[in-house]
Amino acid sequence: MSGFAPKAVLLEKAQEYYFCNCGKGKEQVFCNSSHKGTGKTPTKFTVEESKEYHLCTCKKSLNLPYCDGSHAR
Ligand code: FES
Repeated sequence: MSGFAPKAVLLEKAQEYYFCNCGKGKEQVFCNSSHKGTGKTPTKFTVEESKEYHLCTCKKSLNLPYCDGSHAR
């Protein structure tokens, strides 16, 4: 399986999350401030429903922070 397969995470409704856009965060897929000096910043997002989501780790999805299958193309 690709090292860029999506990560399944349980997200809670109305909680704020910060999706890592730089790829340096050790706890992918969330920002841990490792982006300093990269010129990239995290994307704040919330979800409408508490459930499991598949979040993008390759950063190529056209629907970030969610996986759209781009890692396999
Ligand atoms: S650690 Fe990657 S955007 Fe913050």
